[in-house]
Amino acid sequence: MKRSNGCSALLLLICFAVLGCIQAVTLEVREKNSTCIKLELSAFFSITYNTSSSARTVQVPLPNTTTVDAASSSCGTDGSLPWLVATFGSGHALGLSFTSNGSLYSVDNLTLQYNLSDSSIFAEANSSDVVTVVSATVGIWAVINTTYHCVSAISVVAGGQMVTFSDMRLEAYMPGNELSSAETVCSADQASTTAPTTTARTPTTPTPEPTTPQRGTYSVSNNGTICFLAQMGLQLNFSYFSQSQNKTIQEIFNLTPNLTTSSGSCEDSRATLNLTQERSTTLSFIFTTNSTTNKYHLSGIILFANWSDMTVPFLAGNTSLDYMGTTLGRSYMCNAEQTFVVENFSLNTFRLQVQAFGVTSNHFSTAEECQMDQDQMLIPIIVGASLAGLVLIVLIAYLIGRKRSHAGYQTI
Ligand SMILES: *[C@@H]1O[C@H](CO)[C@@H](O)[C@H](O)[C@H]1NC(C)=O
Ligand SMILES: *[C@@H]1O[C@H](CO)[C@@H](O)[C@H](O)[C@H]1NC(C)=O
Ligand SMILES: *[C@@H]1O[C@H](CO)[C@@H](O)[C@H](O)[C@H]1NC(C)=O
Ligand SMILES: *[C@@H]1O[C@H](CO)[C@@H](O)[C@H](O)[C@H]1NC(C)=O
Ligand SMILES: *[C@@H]1O[C@H](CO)[C@@H](O)[C@H](O)[C@H]1NC(C)=O
Ligand SMILES: *[C@@H]1O[C@H](CO)[C@@H](O)[C@H](O)[C@H]1NC(C)=O
Ligand SMILES: *[C@@H]1O[C@H](CO)[C@@H](O)[C@H](O)[C@H]1NC(C)=O
Ligand SMILES: *[C@@H]1O[C@H](CO)[C@@H](O)[C@H](O)[C@H]1NC(C)=O
Ligand SMILES: *[C@@H]1O[C@H](CO)[C@@H](O)[C@H](O)[C@H]1NC(C)=O
Ligand SMILES: *[C@@H]1O[C@H](CO)[C@@H](O)[C@H](O)[C@H]1NC(C)=O
Ligand SMILES: *[C@@H]1O[C@H](CO)[C@@H](O)[C@H](O)[C@H]1NC(C)=O
Ligand SMILES: *[C@@H]1O[C@H](CO)[C@@H](O)[C@H](O)[C@H]1NC(C)=O
Repeated sequence: MKRSNGCSALLLLICFAVLGCIQAVTLEVREKNSTCIKLELSAFFSITYNTSSSARTVQVPLPNTTTVDAASSSCGTDGSLPWLVATFGSGHALGLSFTSNGSLYSVDNLTLQYNLSDSSIFAEANSSDVVTVVSATVGIWAVINTTYHCVSAISVVAGGQMVTFSDMRLEAYMPGNELSSAETVCSADQASTTAPTTTARTPTTPTPEPTTPQRGTYSVSNNGTICFLAQMGLQLNFSYFSQSQNKTIQEIFNLTPNLTTSSGSCEDSRATLNLTQERSTTLSFIFTTNSTTNKYHLSGIILFANWSDMTVPFLAGNTSLDYMGTTLGRSYMCNAEQTFVVENFSLNTFRLQVQAFGVTSNHFSTAEECQMDQDQMLIPIIVGASLAGLVLIVLIAYLIGRKRSHAGYQTI
């Protein structure tokens, strides 16, 4: 594919170090020379690990040298679930197991295994363990005998780590050896209104003055009821190399609510919200609970952008953040503009209210306001108090003055 060729050796090195170069990968599971699972995609993992001094997050792309582990993979003919296990690098693996009820099939669970001994990826890790994380809420499903197709980036959280897929075609329980031509289009793609390519965005001529973004309402539902609710205006601030302008530009990009779809997952201790605009820009938020403090906080922000004007997709994020601390059962509110600096990009939020856990009857619970809002509320009070003080001083001065001048007249 176009993108995998775009990476020269040097670029690849830079990609791995800074962004993670996204390559297209094709994987298939065969048994008795018929194919039962086929997967074409680009993927990357955001993995947080400990060094001796701090937690660190790396973006690990799925390389195009990834191969299917035939011994672990299975077509499920022995009564087990069909399972695709792909291995890459030194002891890293991605697994997808499938289940079907006869009319639909879906990803039953996703496993990610990574080897912390691999110092080319996990520099200075203070552990040498091979870690395995699993997610059982993947949200990938399709009608049987059709190909699941999703151009948009979709993210899955597994044990605190994040897996992001894009440009994905997938089929399990395949009736033939090739992907079925009939497709089940993922919901993130269905909602987008623009051209059917990954290249929705055309470059804007000289970056216009940033305007305040529109406020959007986004939610994640679990079994038909809203479990994650957010209202906010979002502005991205990052730089990339523009092909049309032949230079690196600083981009201020406002998310447009009615072009943006939301998806995500709600688990007991972790909730994710993925916002995708026109298939080409995906911004993900991860919130985590802390049972000892009875609070939750924003623990991760990841940005993936794949615009036609870019030479390589933009990918950056951090999953060990600690922002927006809020008591469980409450929402977090900040009307003032906030800036979150994440690695090499930043996110500005406007008129924000978020509740990642414990949403009841589709409404926000009582809000806890950010310090900036509290400070702003103090300003009119302070101004009022100062004015009152000033009036008092003038009045006293006037009275004293009057008394003095009175006395003065008498002596003359
Ligand atoms: C399937 O395998 C058999 C023997 O293992 C071989 O004779 C046959 O040509 C193969 N069919 C295809 C379509 O590759
Ligand atoms: C990192 O260390 C902290 C504190 O010891 C621990 O709670 C956390 O689970 C560790 N994270 C990983 C990914 O090992
Ligand atoms: C690794 O470092 C974290 C702090 O970053 C520490 O809490 C943890 O105990 C360390 N683990 C090992 C195996 O040394
Ligand atoms: C995930 O699926 C595989 C294959 O079906 C299975 O072996 C494994 O036990 C599953 N893991 C979890 C946690 O359900
Ligand atoms: C993990 O990585 C180390 C160093 O690259 C390697 O020696 C070891 O065999 C790997 N472990 C597995 C299970 O592949
Ligand atoms: C399979 O599951 C879907 C959704 O849960 C349901 O609509 C459908 O009727 C099920 N099909 C069968 C054959 O059970
Ligand atoms: C799927 O395709 C196979 C082979 O063409 C066929 O036998 C099967 O009935 C189809 N299943 C459904 C649910 O259409
Ligand atoms: C989903 O909702 C239905 C009806 O509201 C309920 O019967 C079912 O148990 C729920 N499933 C889960 C997994 O919560
Ligand atoms: C965007 O980021 C740059 C560099 O970090 C900064 O100088 C600039 O003020 C930011 N602009 C906005 C609108 O946030
Ligand atoms: C882009 O800029 C570089 C140097 O700034 C120049 O050498 C190159 O020819 C330019 N490419 C195009 C297509 O204009
Ligand atoms: C999006 O909203 C703008 C203004 O709010 C409106 O002009 C436009 O038609 C809307 N687009 C869609 C696709 O709904
Ligand atoms: C929970 O909060 C406490 C106190 O701030 C902190 O020490 C602890 O590491 C946190 N636990 C997790 C899992 O984040």
